[in-house]
Amino acid sequence: MVNTKVILSGITLDNPVIPASGTFGYGYEFAELYDINILGSFSFKGTTKEPRFGNPTPRIAECTEGMINSVGLQNPGMEKVISEELPKMKKVFHKPVLANISGFSVEEYVYCAERINEEEQVGIIEVNVSCPNVHHGGMSFGTSPEAAAEVTKAVKAVTTKPVYIKLSPNVTDIVAIAKACEDAGADGISLINTLMGMRIDLKTGKPVVANKMGGFSGKAIFPVAVRMVYQVYEAVKVPIIGMGGVSTAEDVVELMLAGATAVQVGAANLVDPFACKNIIEALPHVMKKYGIKDLNHIIGGAHK
Ligand code: FUM
Repeated sequence: MVNTKVILSGITLDNPVIPASGTFGYGYEFAELYDINILGSFSFKGTTKEPRFGNPTPRIAECTEGMINSVGLQNPGMEKVISEELPKMKKVFHKPVLANISGFSVEEYVYCAERINEEEQVGIIEVNVSCPNVHHGGMSFGTSPEAAAEVTKAVKAVTTKPVYIKLSPNVTDIVAIAKACEDAGADGISLINTLMGMRIDLKTGKPVVANKMGGFSGKAIFPVAVRMVYQVYEAVKVPIIGMGGVSTAEDVVELMLAGATAVQVGAANLVDPFACKNIIEALPHVMKKYGIKDLNHIIGGAHK
């Protein structure tokens, strides 16, 4: 028997596997395929104050071992998420979830945090200061320590639930930003969001994605995620949710050795809707193979 349970800010997860925001809808879409209660938790699609149609199409470009997306935070807006999406989610998933929120001003982050804080099933509020696909807000709050700290402080002031700040890899000093969030009261750090990327169609000579650039994710970015989780673990005391190109149980173990307490799976869900299920089922076997009895014993193990 191995122990796959991990604890995030007092919330016990049966295993560290969490589908990442924007790759798992509100859960009920995947519940048609399998019982999603096997998941540690999941992070639902990033929610903004107002409904958003998202960016013009095409929004997706294929890449070697990955993809570029420029969705543009498409979502029905906070009111509809609360009145329509979360009730459907509750019917199929019975554990605490991560509510991913975005904004175009500090006030919008505050509004979203305040509203979602009231939802009983929300265990953790994941504040996205790293969306690369919107021209104002989004990533601009996550690329300076001061702006990230300002959002963190403002959200913490109106919430009672743990607040995790989701950081962008598109920065020179991820450690300074993570530290600023921790100092401003963040209960945890999620990283990494997507890397800015671009493809050009040789036939048209034009960018493939209508918005020209987008967020690059998938297996190819995994080593960047490992590096950044490793660096941030050295600098902060709060728990880290690691993500970026995770597609196997071995990747989960590697990110935990770098310093993650839990691990999100993103692009892999778009390639195979059973990706998280497969990872969860494989995890005990991989743990046995490497002589790991308890996942908690390996968190940050690569630093010792
Ligand atoms: O464009 C999007 O909706 C992506 C969001 C993100 O990467 O945070």
